[in-house]
Amino acid sequence: MEQIFIPVVLGTAREGRESEAVAKFVFGEFQKHEGLTTELVDVGDHLRNRTLPPYGKGGADEVGTPWKETMSRADGILIVSPEYNRGYPGELKMLLDSLYKEYRRKPMGLIGISDGPWGGSRAVEQLKLVAAGLSMVAVPTTVHTPFADKLFDEDGHITDEKYGERSIFQ
Ligand SMILES: Cc1cc2nc3c(=O)[nH]c(=O)nc-3n(C[C@H](O)[C@H](O)[C@H](O)COP(=O)(O)O)c2cc1C
Repeated sequence: MEQIFIPVVLGTAREGRESEAVAKFVFGEFQKHEGLTTELVDVGDHLRNRTLPPYGKGGADEVGTPWKETMSRADGILIVSPEYNRGYPGELKMLLDSLYKEYRRKPMGLIGISDGPWGGSRAVEQLKLVAAGLSMVAVPTTVHTPFADKLFDEDGHITDEKYGERSIFQ
């Protein structure tokens, strides 16, 4: 069976981020799918390891970075993003902006996170605009994760089984 490669991108570096549990859950679900390979890309690692390139000419389009290597192989990406002040995290934009041609015509799946009732919907809508700017194709079906702080118990088990049944996992 032909394999497609879809990395899961954890889009926040915030300490104590709830999004990490969601990204790891989704990553686990992806690993169960035959015909799909994945890896977890943590934007926090790129910040800490200083593997984000400088902006502008001479950026990652010319110099190799781990993100460039990953994205060159990817058939698409799934972004897990929280909503901060009605937008998505700046560090996620830095990661995305560090490349261009590697994204062309590839799908971008989106999962939004919040600890309130809207599930990161405004961050997700903004990322759809960014997808267009990157020549990516935003997947119309998005997953929203309201009250993300209550979605996993202390042992990391999901508390809402129905979350895993949402269409992006099917
Ligand atoms: C700087 C900041 C701004 C935030 N702004 C919003 C917001 O605009 N809308 C919202 O629903 N939640 C907002 N939140 C709460 C997040 O929904 C909450 O942190 C949630 O757990 C998801 O993000 P996390 O992965 O950082 O934990 C904000 C959180 C932070 C840290």
